[in-house]
Amino acid sequence: MPKRYKIGLIGGGQIGGILALMIAQRELGDALVVDIPQKEGLAKGKTLDIMEMTPHYGTDVNLSGTSDFSQLKGCDVIIITAGVPRRPGMTREDLLDVNLKIITSVAENIKKHCPDAFNIVLTNPLDAMVYAFYKLTGFPKNRVIGMAGALDTGRFRAFVAMETGYSVEDITAPVMGGHGPTMVPLYRLATVGGVPLTEILSQEKIDAIVQRTRQAGTEIVKLLANGSAYFSPAASALEMAESYLKDKKRIIPCSALCEGEYGVQGYFIGVPTVIGAGGVEKILEIKLTPQEKEALQETLEAVKKAVADTKL
Ligand code: APR
Repeated sequence: MPKRYKIGLIGGGQIGGILALMIAQRELGDALVVDIPQKEGLAKGKTLDIMEMTPHYGTDVNLSGTSDFSQLKGCDVIIITAGVPRRPGMTREDLLDVNLKIITSVAENIKKHCPDAFNIVLTNPLDAMVYAFYKLTGFPKNRVIGMAGALDTGRFRAFVAMETGYSVEDITAPVMGGHGPTMVPLYRLATVGGVPLTEILSQEKIDAIVQRTRQAGTEIVKLLANGSAYFSPAASALEMAESYLKDKKRIIPCSALCEGEYGVQGYFIGVPTVIGAGGVEKILEIKLTPQEKEALQETLEAVKKAVADTKL
């Protein structure tokens, strides 16, 4: 029997609201936004507003808001944005204590009410929060993933497009590592229409783009002054959800549990993943140069420190 996908959005704030909007615009499925009781009105109000927008798009979806986690039953995908965003001057790690408490309660609720979904975590500090969610739920590793690299590669591609004037569609620019300033944009493998980026831009320009990519989240936090990015994180998470729901087997850099890949043992860190109906179906291993390996080791240390702070 044909079915409509059901997508659970935990957190109806900036990213959660945009996710609901994008799901409705693309008619990807029905969406349920779950927030805390004090914010139930926000979840209900945003989803109702979007429902009233759908006639203008001609899309048929059901959106609703609640604070009742039991309504998540039967969701195919759950996208978690519950948590506090950064303010200017804060690092992602500054959010750890407060967001760990939130992830703990969210993990308990999802385990109880919807244990079979594919779970995408966005809450920061990302690599530590997805690790915590995995540990607290005990879900299999193929059904827990963190959204970071999808966003970082999108930012990298956008900056290359801005610099070269060529279409974003034809630019590939992989990024690995933790979601923070130590991430590793692999410019050596970046291409524009198949032409290596290193043959198109000077090393100086590439270095500037790499640096901007590493600081892209902070650049937005400074500009917004009262929160962090939300349009691009929502689009990135949806790309991952769509690859799972449609079994597209897209190769997207994501924070996935490594058990030996790249020499990483037992940590979630940004690696190229294949996302299909089986969830995280595979981690692709790229042969790295000694310099890239060193950079990956450095970013791993940053992730390990944040994970140690979770005490899980
Ligand atoms: N259960 C459900 N929702 C919760 C919970 C909880 N236990 N705790 C908080 N929330 C909700 C908040 O009430 C709020 O509506 O999560 C929402 C977060 O929304 P925003 O504050 O607007 O934050 P947003 O910009 O969406 O970012 C969310 O994603 O990228 C990360 O760093 C970012 O950690 C932050 C998260």
